Amino acid sequence: MNNTLETIYSLRSIHGNFSERDISPEDLKTITDACVRAANASARQSYSVIVINDRQTIKDQFCYGGSKALLFCIDFNRILKTAAYLGQEFNTDGIIGFITGSTDTILAAQTAALAAKSLGIDSLFTNSIHRCDITKLNRAFDLPVKYCFPLIALILGYPQVEPGYMKGRLNGTGIIHYEKYHEPDKTDLDELVSTYDDPQRHMGMIHDWQDKGYQHYLDWFYRKWCSPVNTEKESEVYSVLRQAGFIV
Ligand SMILES: Cc1cc2nc3c(=O)[nH]c(=O)nc-3n(C[C@H](O)[C@H](O)[C@H](O)COP(=O)(O)O)c2cc1C
Repeated sequence: MNNTLETIYSLRSIHGNFSERDISPEDLKTITDACVRAANASARQSYSVIVINDRQTIKDQFCYGGSKALLFCIDFNRILKTAAYLGQEFNTDGIIGFITGSTDTILAAQTAALAAKSLGIDSLFTNSIHRCDITKLNRAFDLPVKYCFPLIALILGYPQVEPGYMKGRLNGTGIIHYEKYHEPDKTDLDELVSTYDDPQRHMGMIHDWQDKGYQHYLDWFYRKWCSPVNTEKESEVYSVLRQAGFIV
């Protein structure tokens, strides 16, 4: 394997046990410099990255501790301001702009995680920001109400305890489709279910699903892990996106 593939294959999340060791300002700068190298639509980088140094703020806002955190937000404000400065107009393009901007933002976020890993720094992506009150989070970081939306937080640090194994991934049927989309048939579904059941594959969130009385891991997943629709949360997100101008 070359160095790039080694970095990609060694990437894994650290769940809540980062050590007290701090990331140096130089490494942090290397990570932020690298993340903006990601591809971006129309060369406009429709995102903002908030760098958070304060451990308590990281814990308070993202529910997980770490040395540093990066909050990746889709953001058209800089682009709109520059347009106005030049007496030009800019169309944020509603939901289409939101999709494109989100793609820019997430590519930058994953590039940050990979750059960090290449420096020996581990990470955890969290969408805890959407489980909490998004308006409060926006206020905590002075995010603009219009044309800005926090998509994902990336907590960075050094692990306190090395994870015992790498989490598995599906990489065949149902994930990679050759030439045309392939609807999984019964054989594919049986294979998928047994892949999740195989303790050697480390696919799931828990290992003791059998002790909990489930026939398959995925029975536990669908019944216990996946939350029922939270209409209140859904309305809040719609309302924030509407206020931001991404949807009508
Ligand atoms: C959008 C997104 C949100 C996530 N949110 C959380 C989270 O809130 N808490 C957590 O412990 N892990 C979170 N993760 C990490 C996943 O649990 C982790 O990537 C997955 O279990 C695979 O493990 P690995 O990254 O170690 O390979 C998140 C990952 C993504 C991409």
